[in-house]
Amino acid sequence: MHIYLIGMPGAGKTTLGRQLAATLNLPFIDLDEAIEKQAGLTIPQLFEQKGEAYFRQLESEVLKTVSDSAERLVIATGGGTPCFSDNMAFMNKNGTTVYLRTEPDVLVQRLLNQELSQRPLLKGKSETELLAYLTQTITARQPFYLQAGIIFEARDNMQAVAQLSAFIS
Ligand code: S3P
Repeated sequence: MHIYLIGMPGAGKTTLGRQLAATLNLPFIDLDEAIEKQAGLTIPQLFEQKGEAYFRQLESEVLKTVSDSAERLVIATGGGTPCFSDNMAFMNKNGTTVYLRTEPDVLVQRLLNQELSQRPLLKGKSETELLAYLTQTITARQPFYLQAGIIFEARDNMQAVAQLSAFIS
């Protein structure tokens, strides 16, 4: 039974996932990285050269391939992963899903401190546009995210790792 971290870009899925995996002594997989490896292209290149539909197809395939592992894994998914194909049901069947719920204004502040060019859906947006996009996207994605087994308000990473590892192990 794997542990799948889900939530918006900037929610801390990768950072928290790495720490959680280290605490639980489990391997960590970043789904975006696994997709890049499989495609031999970066996420921005995939969106640019192949389009989003192709990316979503590959994302679902790679989610299933990595989940085949007999070893228990901590998997950080992409922000859109739960919302396409049967991915949310698949993850709930194959493990524990943890939704890192974060308010849009917190996401904006975190994302503005990161390199947005690596995130094709956010690239080139001003702070105001980013806030509008994230607010709208959370509303659209919430019906999927809220199907998670655990819904977690992610504020402080250290505290989150401690609470989650106690919950899960
Ligand atoms: C996406 C989020 C990204 C990545 C892709 C699409 C999304 O992952 O999978 O750019 O649809 O929100 P992060 O959530 O790790 O940024």
